[in-house]
Amino acid sequence: MREESKINLGKNIAILGAQWGDEGKGKIVDMLTPDLDAVVRFQGGHNAGHTLVVDGKKTVLRLIPSGILHPHVQCYLGNGVVLSPDAFLSEVAELEQQGIDVRHRLKLSHALHLLLPYHIALDQARELKLGHAAIGTTKRGIGPAYEDKAARRGIRLADLADLDGLQQRLKTVLDYHNFVLTQYHQTSAIDVDELFDVLLAQREALLPLMTDVTADLQVLASQGKHILFEGAQGSFLDVDHGTYPYVTSSNTTAGGIACGSGFGPLMMDTVMGIMKAYTTRVGSGPFPTELTDDIGATIAKRGHEFGSVTGRPRRCGWFDAVAMKRAMFLNSMNALCLTKLDVLDPFTEIGICTAYQLDGKTLDYLPHSTAELARVQPVYEFMPGWGSDTFGITRFDALPSAARQFIERLETLLGLTIDMISTGPGREHTIVRQSTR
Ligand code: GDP
Ligand code: IMO
Ligand code: MG
Repeated sequence: MREESKINLGKNIAILGAQWGDEGKGKIVDMLTPDLDAVVRFQGGHNAGHTLVVDGKKTVLRLIPSGILHPHVQCYLGNGVVLSPDAFLSEVAELEQQGIDVRHRLKLSHALHLLLPYHIALDQARELKLGHAAIGTTKRGIGPAYEDKAARRGIRLADLADLDGLQQRLKTVLDYHNFVLTQYHQTSAIDVDELFDVLLAQREALLPLMTDVTADLQVLASQGKHILFEGAQGSFLDVDHGTYPYVTSSNTTAGGIACGSGFGPLMMDTVMGIMKAYTTRVGSGPFPTELTDDIGATIAKRGHEFGSVTGRPRRCGWFDAVAMKRAMFLNSMNALCLTKLDVLDPFTEIGICTAYQLDGKTLDYLPHSTAELARVQPVYEFMPGWGSDTFGITRFDALPSAARQFIERLETLLGLTIDMISTGPGREHTIVRQSTR
């Protein structure tokens, strides 16, 4: 194993969350960007919150790819993204206020769907109605926007170019949604003319950014450029493969890249899974290794585990190797990055879930039903803690031996080496450790 500051992951790379989101994807994308030509988001919307820390200064990105802080990189939002013009334009304005040129370096797919105020109103009204059974969404309108896409009544970016068509489509879609909002949810209707006027103004800023992302990616690929696909959310929030219905409404796993950008599956050199040294989840749904005791509270405090979008406290627990193995298969992960190792510094022992118990049986796989997953008892293996400071360490051999043993045990359980280890939020707080591939 050799250690160097740069990592060779090939030309086309996916960075995907391997757990329930917030694994530290944004930091890793930002850190890899100097060697890239393009960064692409392919799913999700402003439910994502990706935190970058550069020279101690924090930037949280929601829709804009985490490569944007590096001036040489072209950023794209693919067709699989749902884009709120309000959220997008305010994020652009925030970055521009910091002197970052966004408009010349960011392109939007003509085929991405717009997430509009009625989607947000529906998400909020539904969560309210569900009460204790709520999914715990970010209330950003993500689910309703993807529903409209699947129902073939969505409004795409390219529709802003045809004003008559847009007005007609808005009327039709609001006729339907306003009925639901007022009659079923007893809440206010969205005014079609007001929304049309707002979109009329917003389209001036949006249309110049429109492109055929797939065609652009094809050109970049033919020129041998380096492209990174930045996942949002995590594998177990995937609408198909996650803990349904406690999921988001897009495909967060590797398959989503091809659908959400038009970049074919055989083009990918590396699919890197980002995983915390423990597990977190925000919102409702099963979480086998959740710790509701002092240990969970200490992890939350040390890891500042509060949602970067909603500020909600994240639920915390030990690392789940059973779920992780599933995530590796789901995504064809051939590289791994472990983040937030430093958060575990004070513990005398550290748990790794290696199996589940369900109705007297030991399982080394995830049960297929969400209800069963909610009932499993984790089987733990405890490793000795290291009890010393790992914050900011940049070399594997500088880690305490118990920390190295913890990482090596994870590698054995997962059957893959861990190429990168993050020991703090900053770009520089990273161990790059690469096996020759
Ligand atoms: P993302 O959604 O996957 O990009 O992750 P978030 O940004 O939502 O959450 C990760 C949080 O952990 C952010 O506040 C990061 O600044 C922070 N972070 C990332 N890596 C590390 C690390 O290795 N150690 C510590 N202490 N914090 C980290
Ligand atoms: P990043 O990209 C963590 C969760 C919500 C909720 C469920 C559905 O920062 O990792 P939605 O608003 O998408 O309909 O909510 O998904 N969720 C996330 N959890 N990180 C995220 O994004 C998330 N985006 C959505 O909390 O449980
Ligand atoms: Mg996040």
